[in-house]
Amino acid sequence: MSMKYLVPALAAVGGAYAQSSCSVSGTTTINAAADASALSGCSTFSGSIAIATGLGEAVSIPGVRRITGDLVATNNSLIPSISADSLQIIGGAFHLDDLQILSTLSFPQLTQVDAIQWNALAGLQLLSFTTGVQQANELNIQNTQLQTLDGINLAVVDTVFITNNNYLNDISMQLGNISTSLTIESNGGNVSAIFPNLIWANNMTFRNVSQIALNSLVSVNGSLGFYANEFESLQCANLTTVGSNKGDLTIVSNQNLNNVSFPQLTKVGGGLSIQNNTDLMTVNGFPKLATITGAFDLYGDFANVTMPALKEVDGAFNIQSSSVLGGCDAFQKLKSGGEIRGKFFCNGTVAKPSGVGSNPSVTGSGSSSKSTASGAANAMYVPTAAAGVMGVVAALFGLL
Ligand SMILES: *[C@@H]1O[C@H](CO)[C@@H](O)[C@H](O)[C@H]1NC(C)=O
Ligand SMILES: *[C@@H]1O[C@H](CO)[C@@H](O)[C@H](O)[C@H]1NC(C)=O
Ligand SMILES: *[C@@H]1O[C@H](CO)[C@@H](O)[C@H](O)[C@H]1NC(C)=O
Ligand SMILES: *[C@@H]1O[C@H](CO)[C@@H](O)[C@H](O)[C@H]1NC(C)=O
Ligand SMILES: *[C@@H]1O[C@H](CO)[C@@H](O)[C@H](O)[C@H]1NC(C)=O
Ligand SMILES: *[C@@H]1O[C@H](CO)[C@@H](O)[C@H](O)[C@H]1NC(C)=O
Ligand SMILES: *[C@@H]1O[C@H](CO)[C@@H](O)[C@H](O)[C@H]1NC(C)=O
Ligand SMILES: *[C@@H]1O[C@H](CO)[C@@H](O)[C@H](O)[C@H]1NC(C)=O
Ligand SMILES: *[C@@H]1O[C@H](CO)[C@@H](O)[C@H](O)[C@H]1NC(C)=O
Ligand SMILES: *[C@@H]1O[C@H](CO)[C@@H](O)[C@H](O)[C@H]1NC(C)=O
Ligand SMILES: *[C@@H]1O[C@H](CO)[C@@H](O)[C@H](O)[C@H]1NC(C)=O
Repeated sequence: MSMKYLVPALAAVGGAYAQSSCSVSGTTTINAAADASALSGCSTFSGSIAIATGLGEAVSIPGVRRITGDLVATNNSLIPSISADSLQIIGGAFHLDDLQILSTLSFPQLTQVDAIQWNALAGLQLLSFTTGVQQANELNIQNTQLQTLDGINLAVVDTVFITNNNYLNDISMQLGNISTSLTIESNGGNVSAIFPNLIWANNMTFRNVSQIALNSLVSVNGSLGFYANEFESLQCANLTTVGSNKGDLTIVSNQNLNNVSFPQLTKVGGGLSIQNNTDLMTVNGFPKLATITGAFDLYGDFANVTMPALKEVDGAFNIQSSSVLGGCDAFQKLKSGGEIRGKFFCNGTVAKPSGVGSNPSVTGSGSSSKSTASGAANAMYVPTAAAGVMGVVAALFGLL
């Protein structure tokens, strides 16, 4: 719909004063900066606004406080700046994709958006969001040059997906819960993921993270995965359950990790995988872990694995270490007693330590050389989605 059909109308709001609202069916396209300033009479804009691909100047949308639909700009190599001085709410998506030189995004009053969907914003380094967005169902930021997320501090969200932002070294939010999923992957080389208030989440996946804090986390209903991170220590001091709705706890290929501590964890509703963390020499941070509904699948260079409270593993049980390994006697008793139901393996001095279903060759040499786990058929650097499936497959395999 072109701008000339847009008719600002006076509508009584709250009885106290009149406020203008404008309404279009569908999407209004802004073809020039003047089209945007013409919207200043619309306190509430009912409909969506799209910025044209060929528009080559800064766009300012003054006066509009609320857009009921989407605000969209895609595939524009010319636009340097988008601003909206009064905009508080975007009822739909704030969708920006492939805007090569966009460097200014000024939304000083924006607090609420249904979805932030930003991708391929090669010129965007910071946000001018003074009040800050606190509420969004979806936060999806990929391939930007953002250095911080200052201006986005969500209290409530369903889905967070923050990947491939190479300069982003600080991801910190006040979130209390994540109802669908959180994925953080391949951001800055020294990125922190700090969620001090997060109490429960559905799925969460962290990759390539250098510092992490999940101090308040109590439960993860689905899966929790840590892959290829740089941190040395992983503490989930308050976490009691993972996978109550069937989900795995996966700690794989974190090359500097030397201390894993989950002091309150009692149950994993899927599989537990701790694999190929080459600096992790002892696994003793699970003093209360009693029940694992899927497979228990650990391999690496450990000298000792202890799980003093373990009383049920429904899937396969596998511990393979390249080092001389202590702790197998206790697990052997659980296998003999039937507490471990699936196929059982526990031994050290394995030449190429690997996962459930592999054919480990025990050298007995006592070698403590670092494992690379390279040749293993099912060596585990797998995405979370696959890990979930493999956990189930492994559990079934163990029971057959
Ligand atoms: C982006 O714009 C270019 C040039 O106008 C066009 O050829 C291309 O199809 C557009 N891509 C998308 C995804 O719209
Ligand atoms: C989710 O977190 C928010 C913010 O901390 C809180 O207000 C809300 O009650 C939480 N919802 C649930 C279901 O836990
Ligand atoms: C993230 O980790 C993966 C797996 O190790 C690696 O291939 C990728 O290069 C890493 N990305 C960054 C940005 O470090
Ligand atoms: C990485 O970030 C942390 C803070 O999050 C900082 O203390 C540390 O110095 C940084 N390291 C490097 C190498 O920049
Ligand atoms: C665990 O949670 C309690 C209550 O929510 C909180 O007081 C405590 O500080 C948390 N522990 C850590 C290590 O953050
Ligand atoms: C996840 O678990 C929390 C706390 O146990 C619960 O409040 C929430 O409803 C669950 N969410 C889903 C999506 O199952
Ligand atoms: C094991 O972890 C290292 C990083 O420490 C990684 O380079 C390698 O690819 C991982 N191996 C497997 C089989 O996942
Ligand atoms: C691992 O971290 C926990 C919690 O901070 C600590 O109590 C424990 O001593 C650490 N273990 C090692 C071997 O450093
Ligand atoms: C393994 O650790 C347990 C508990 O810390 C200890 O009792 C046992 O002696 C250790 N075994 C070996 C072989 O180090
Ligand atoms: C474990 O490996 C040792 C050699 O280090 C071997 O003697 C022993 O039989 C193996 N045990 C099992 C259960 O395979
Ligand atoms: C949670 O993760 C599991 C296993 O990776 C996957 O099957 C499931 O689809 C994920 N659910 C959501 C809501 O992301």
